[in-house]
Amino acid sequence: MKRIFTNIGELATSQGRTALCGKAQGNIKRLQSAWILEKNCMIDSVGTGSPPAADKVIDCGGKLVTPGLVDCHTHLVFGGWREKELAMKLAGKSYLEILAAGGGILSTVRETRAASEDALYEKASRLLSEAMSYGTTAMEIKSGYGLDLSTEQKQLRVIKRLKEQNSDLAATFLGAHAFPPEMEREAYMDFLCETAIPAIAADGLAEYCDVFCDEGVFTAAQAERILLCGKRFGLIPKLHADEIREIGGTETAAKVGAISCDHLSETGVAGIRALKDGGVIAVMLPATSFYLQKPYGNFRGMIDAGVPVAVATDMNPGSTPNLSLPFAMTAACLYGRLTPEEVLTAATLNGAAAIGMANRLGTLESGKQADLVVWDADNLEQLIYRYGTNRTLRVYKRGVCQFGKERV
Ligand code: NIG
Ligand code: FE
Repeated sequence: MKRIFTNIGELATSQGRTALCGKAQGNIKRLQSAWILEKNCMIDSVGTGSPPAADKVIDCGGKLVTPGLVDCHTHLVFGGWREKELAMKLAGKSYLEILAAGGGILSTVRETRAASEDALYEKASRLLSEAMSYGTTAMEIKSGYGLDLSTEQKQLRVIKRLKEQNSDLAATFLGAHAFPPEMEREAYMDFLCETAIPAIAADGLAEYCDVFCDEGVFTAAQAERILLCGKRFGLIPKLHADEIREIGGTETAAKVGAISCDHLSETGVAGIRALKDGGVIAVMLPATSFYLQKPYGNFRGMIDAGVPVAVATDMNPGSTPNLSLPFAMTAACLYGRLTPEEVLTAATLNGAAAIGMANRLGTLESGKQADLVVWDADNLEQLIYRYGTNRTLRVYKRGVCQFGKERV
């Protein structure tokens, strides 16, 4: 089966199979009047002018086509919602104050522990479809609302089941998301390293291990211990760092060889240097900054220092209950001062690299998977500019339309 996507008004894509940094991050390919030839779920070729013959012709209506978006940081599997915290937030309570009042992560932990696996699956499956409707064709999903072995495993089994809906999901064990109320901190550290990580790795339930390394949560030394332990069991390290305060998370990321270090809204020059020297991808989460009314972070400093920057949603029930990666992209441009070209790389190729999928995803070029989005926009700038409304017309995964009505 060969499909030809024709009448593409603008085709915008980064190129390559590894994360891009510095000037290369914004140096994308933009073609007018383009076509994409798909063969057996993969991109065969891309060009302009008269298109080659195929079994099926798909008219893109003169619109913008980009690679499918890659959301490389989400907490998609959880029980309940936290809309009740809105009033506290609006009354000026901080994220940590809400946590201390029994809200925050710990209230979602209670609801996730109480939820059945099927209920968690049904809810996450609907959210995954919602993300697809916004153009997200690959995603990373974390556990971290169990803080005990059986609930963490339950969340990770849900992610495994979701892979039947979308094969391009990465699973991350985030047992170190908070300390459970029922256990001493040191005992929980031992439990993570001696019980949880070995069990989760033995069951093949996660590829990555993450730690919330920040003020009031896990220290840099604790993060290092957990991530090195995960690494011994084959889990690739990632970190949540510098969201509230810089406490050495970026240096830890570099030290343990993390694939990415995420949040980074408080990261200064030394932290940027550490990421650069450690070859760590910076995953920026501007929708979280928006919802928490917090600083956005030094995106430009990272790009200028040669750190590859990715942008993701951080979808979770507390700090950003939003699955629109296009919204995060607009926020990254307005508040992080990225260009539309840089942000496209951030939400596609660099996102794919942050979850080890850049070999097959993240760009529209020969040999990559035919994951693409036809947008209701004439060009890349229009997509960023028409923020806050869903601009997807059709979303394709491996050449097959998963959202929207196909025009043939
Ligand atoms: O990435 N920062 C830590 N964890 C999540 C928030 C989790 C929650 O509030 O439920 C985040 O923002
Ligand atoms: Fe997060």
